Order: sequence, then structure tokens, then C-alpha cells
Amino acid sequence: MENKNITTKIIVCSYEELTETEKKLVDTAKEASNRSYAPYSRFQVGAAALLSGGLIISGSNQENAAYPSGICAERTTLFYANSQYPDLAVESLAIAAQTGGSFIERPTAPCGACRQVILETEERYRHPIRIYLYGTDEIYIVESIRGLLPLCFGKNDLPE
Ligand code: THU
Repeated sequence: MENKNITTKIIVCSYEELTETEKKLVDTAKEASNRSYAPYSRFQVGAAALLSGGLIISGSNQENAAYPSGICAERTTLFYANSQYPDLAVESLAIAAQTGGSFIERPTAPCGACRQVILETEERYRHPIRIYLYGTDEIYIVESIRGLLPLCFGKNDLPE
């Protein structure tokens, strides 16, 4: 028997340490959270994606009285990007959440289903997606969804 350790590099930084482009991406995710429709959880999430060429698009979580019919901010954003701009790779993604009128302190991490969709997007465009998890205390940056989804199941696990 042996032990295997899987490690993830997470860059921890403050908003002030981001470049202007990174700040714009995070700001866009924060703004998008204002357009969330979250009457049930009151947890308003925004996401912003930087596409190759520089276009930034955004989305927010959209809930439903039949709970599973809602969708997270990350998937709203990526599905919009992939359907409107199918020829542009997603280069980076920022996520921010607020509740009760305040952005949350800890970095907001994507749920499991969104991680899987982020992985699909990376594989579709053969381009790692740099992910910014915004919190008012600190920001986490990971270079690829693989850091948040080790031992992932992707397209190469299916027969051709
Ligand atoms: N949610 C997101 O939009 N993204 C996340 O990363 C975590 C959770 C949404 C789903 C639901 O509308 C609400 O937040 C509470 O789970």
C-alpha cells in the first residue's frame, strides 16, 4: 500500500495586488451579482469570464421555486460564453458572492457541478482557465480547474 498526496497551488492575494485587467474581471463579477435572481437562498453570486481577444462577459445565479431548475452564476456565464462566442477560448473566470448586502469575506468557490462545466470548457478549448475566487478578506487564484477538481472525469475518460 502507498499514500499519494495531491497538492494544489493557490495564490492568495488582496484586491490591491491584482493587475488592472484582473481588477476589471473581479469588478465585473461583483457587479453581475447585483443582477442575481436569488429570492430563495438570498445568496447572490456573480461570475465574469475573460475571453480570448479581451471580451469580458458575465452572469449571475438564477433560482427557481422548483429548486433544481435554478442555475449557478458560473454555469450561466460559461454557457452564455460558449453559446454566443463558440470560437473564443475562456481564459479566466472570476466569482464573487454577496448576501444581506455585503460581499462575503471568504473566497467563493464553485460548486461541484460548476467545476465539471469549467473542466469541460478547459478541455473544449484546450486552454487552462485561471480562476479568481473573490472574498473581501482575500482572493484565491488557481491556474486551472484541475487544482479544484483533482482526479477529474473528462472527455478523455470516454471511449472515442
Ligand atoms: N451558487 C452559485 O451561483 N455559485 C456558486 O459557486 C455556489 C452557489 C448559487 C446557487 C444558488 O442559487 C445559491 O448560490 C445558493 O446555493
